[in-house]
Amino acid sequence: MSFDVEKIRSAFPLLRENPTLVYLDSAATAQKPQCVIDAVCNFYAKHNANIHRGLYRLSQQATADFERARERVAAFLNARESRECVFTRGATEAINLVAASWGGANLCAGDEILLTEMEHHANIVPWQLVAGRTGAKIVVAPMRDDGSLDVPALKNLISEKTKIVGVTQTSNALGTVNPVKEICAAAHAAGALTLVDAAQSAAHFVLDVQDIACDFLVFSGHKVCGPTGIGALYARAEILEKMPPYQGGGDMIETVDFAGTTFRGIPGRFEAGTPNIAGAIGLGAALDYVSALRPQAQAHEEALLAYATKKIRAELPELRIFGTAEKKASVISFHLGEIHPSDVGMLLDTFGVAVRVGHHCAMPLMKRLGITGTVRASFAFYNTFEEADRFVGALKKVREMF
Ligand code: ALA
Repeated sequence: MSFDVEKIRSAFPLLRENPTLVYLDSAATAQKPQCVIDAVCNFYAKHNANIHRGLYRLSQQATADFERARERVAAFLNARESRECVFTRGATEAINLVAASWGGANLCAGDEILLTEMEHHANIVPWQLVAGRTGAKIVVAPMRDDGSLDVPALKNLISEKTKIVGVTQTSNALGTVNPVKEICAAAHAAGALTLVDAAQSAAHFVLDVQDIACDFLVFSGHKVCGPTGIGALYARAEILEKMPPYQGGGDMIETVDFAGTTFRGIPGRFEAGTPNIAGAIGLGAALDYVSALRPQAQAHEEALLAYATKKIRAELPELRIFGTAEKKASVISFHLGEIHPSDVGMLLDTFGVAVRVGHHCAMPLMKRLGITGTVRASFAFYNTFEEADRFVGALKKVREMF
């Protein structure tokens, strides 16, 4: 079946109503198809009620829709059971949950948390916070000049002191795709747990937590065409069951008494307060939508990346691409000659091209490359080859202005 990108674009109101916009910032957040917008609107317009609290039908329907969304998350990740999936505000909150709850209960002075040089700040700072509280130490696996992870070096850093290995599946700043299955196997062989940051990969690849054999995996809904403020933590049930609560409040308890409180089982123990019900339902719709487009969507993105990269190399020899690893998602991070990335980004905007500029929340990665930031163009399945042409054409116009 051929991939009809124009038909797909017509399902995205923002793209349909802004035909001159070339949106190349899907790594920051993806655009939303009508089915996701409808799912959120329908909930508020027709089914709004709180969950897990009401005996009336409207509330029971809302509870069923929320829990069905959890089942969709479990199916999307190929989790064994939906109770292994905790709704969070996004990947960032999910990592904070693991670091604070699992890390707070299990890390001691002398223990090591192994991360990589290409992590997003969301997979660094929560670990620094728990390291500060527990005395555990952060160890950093190096990245090569081409933006690939030095996997042999990472494996050499794993020891009996390593308690957890946290690694991104896809670098948000460069697009590098890491062999997370291999890394998880090496970590487990040494008795360490593993956390995979799938914030960027969820939008591009089929995720399978059983095949990766990770202990934790996190992703954000808004990068997979879902609403903002919703995402999920996957955790193996036997680990999640032993973790203490992350936040306290309503809906995560069994009984409360000033003498002591008992907590719900998983995943409810980790979902204090009224959650983002509409967001979860919208996320469920988004996951169904993107799942139905695969694997053609992935092939289209790969073709777009190859086309745009080849065109840039042929027509803009002074453009330097950062991140040329063999396995890459559809991200082109670059400098255009000596022109400051902020100038490139602002001028591209005047030609209708939206890109992200800066350190991309990956300051250690930028430091490793000896730069302070890049221009980043990130392609999604709804982008076209004609947009890639317009992007390169706009870059040529920017170059002529200096
Ligand atoms: N983490 C998002 C990005 O890479 C916001 O742009």
